[in-house]
Amino acid sequence: MTLPTLLEGRLSLLLIGSPMFLVSRPSLVIAQCRAGIVGAFPSLNARPSGAFESWLQQIEEALTDKDAPFAVNLIVHRTNARLEEDLALCVQYKVPIVITSLGAREDVNQAIHSYGGIVLHDVINNVFARKAVEKGADGLIAVAAGAGGHAGTLSPFALVEEIRAWFDGPLALSGAIATGRSIAAARMMGADLAYMGSPFIATEEADADAAYKQMIVDSGAGDILYSDVFSGVLGNYLKPSIVAAGMDPDNLPRAASMDFASAGGEGAKAWRDIWGAGQGIGAIRKIQPAGAFVDQLKAEYREAVAAFRL
Ligand SMILES: Cc1cc2nc3c(=O)[nH]c(=O)nc-3n(C[C@H](O)[C@H](O)[C@H](O)COP(=O)(O)O)c2cc1C
Repeated sequence: MTLPTLLEGRLSLLLIGSPMFLVSRPSLVIAQCRAGIVGAFPSLNARPSGAFESWLQQIEEALTDKDAPFAVNLIVHRTNARLEEDLALCVQYKVPIVITSLGAREDVNQAIHSYGGIVLHDVINNVFARKAVEKGADGLIAVAAGAGGHAGTLSPFALVEEIRAWFDGPLALSGAIATGRSIAAARMMGADLAYMGSPFIATEEADADAAYKQMIVDSGAGDILYSDVFSGVLGNYLKPSIVAAGMDPDNLPRAASMDFASAGGEGAKAWRDIWGAGQGIGAIRKIQPAGAFVDQLKAEYREAVAAFRL
């Protein structure tokens, strides 16, 4: 298990704050990097496209060599019309880490490697993991069951073991990790890093509605619904937000026939009104600054490691 030089010694907790559509913006990324973990955002959060460059400038100006490196998430899918433009800006600004999702492409990886950047690719199974490494990804993010957003269905134990059977490069694990103890457990299982999203929704810097943040605090695993109704892809969503949009989580229309305008949702949209979150949020008890939350994770991590007995 190796961490690229870029990460070695630069993190005070082996954690990546994962990119979240609509939620991750420069203030959160900067707070995460200053706290010693990798902060990340999807390039598509910067709208219109011209805003991406000013976000990159803002982040680069705010961070120093003492802070952790940041990451940009590129959606490598033919439906992403901004991919080439955003990739060119990643190269121009030498974005240290690029997280690719929904598709692995050799030319994208080569472009990032051209200036010394590293590519981490997120996968939900071993088949995609092999493909990503064949195409030149430097590291993998194993997205296991219970993760927020477009989660997988595999147990983290199964997924990590299958990947570790052939891959000894950088591996991050995600899916319902919400405490320092869980970060320690992810590392014990064979991952180098943990990858955490939903808990950061309940931080002051997250670009989320106050009611969304409070729903993270008030909800637990039983409040999460795994469904493809809202975006056409299976993902985890907060049931109370589905109810608030005028729908019955136990009696949703079939994905193919979904029409928000006529479903009583008054134009409710996935992510904007139907809020995404993973199963780990039961551990989140308050809204606080991201830096304070990372400090809490570090303390929990140290405590868990110290308490571990064979
Ligand atoms: C609201 C929300 C939006 C997300 N948007 C993206 C995204 O745009 N790109 C991406 O690669 N992953 C996205 N994810 C997935 C996360 O990057 C990560 O895999 C997940 O949050 C990890 O699980 P956890 O939320 O249980 O910590 C999103 C997750 C959430 C909760």
